Amino acid sequence: MQVETRFRIIRAGAGLAIAAAIFGALVLWGPSWLYLWFKAFHIIAVIAWMAGMLYLPRLFVYHCEAAPGSVQSETFKVMERRLLRAIINPAMIATWALGLWLAWDAGFFSDGWLHAKLALVVVLSGVHGFMARCVRDFANDQNVRSQRYYRILNEVPTLLMILIVILVVVKPF
Ligand code: HEM
Repeated sequence: MQVETRFRIIRAGAGLAIAAAIFGALVLWGPSWLYLWFKAFHIIAVIAWMAGMLYLPRLFVYHCEAAPGSVQSETFKVMERRLLRAIINPAMIATWALGLWLAWDAGFFSDGWLHAKLALVVVLSGVHGFMARCVRDFANDQNVRSQRYYRILNEVPTLLMILIVILVVVKPF
């Protein structure tokens, strides 16, 4: 493994450990203002996650037009890898961690709307995992999916996001 790659893994691990330590300390302390602050950070994390999930398939659409090995193709590979690792992955972890804490703290775990929301977020996380696989396929010049396929894939997170936001804001059941 290259020194630079090892350094990047250590840096990411340290960042995650510090964030987890701050999160744990705040949860143990449990001040009364914590719920609203965690909710604000949950929404910020959701925005970052969704921005990445909507932009990544657009990159795939344009990447399909670039010949493997071309300068454009290599540039798209870097953009896709950075978007996934620096934004989409950490944002998803933060969304889950904060969302689960909010649900536990407010006692929402027996509510129907949360069950439905969780089911849709699991599907969204699956789409996330699939997109990570697409990034790997492009990185290895092994993409076999069409532009049309990625255009349709682009609509899936949008639809899930609309349903998830309605469930949590309206809480219809
Ligand atoms: C990862 C699993 C998730 C869990 C367990 C979760 C859980 C929660 C909980 C318990 C709240 C507080 C609700 C309240 O105070 O009334 C909340 C707020 C919110 N969540 Fe999530 N959430 C998750 C993921 C998401 C995702 C993926 C989205 C959007 C795509 C989202 C959008 C929102 C929004 C917009 C609010 C603010 C609602 C309000 O204050 O009226 N959440 N979430």
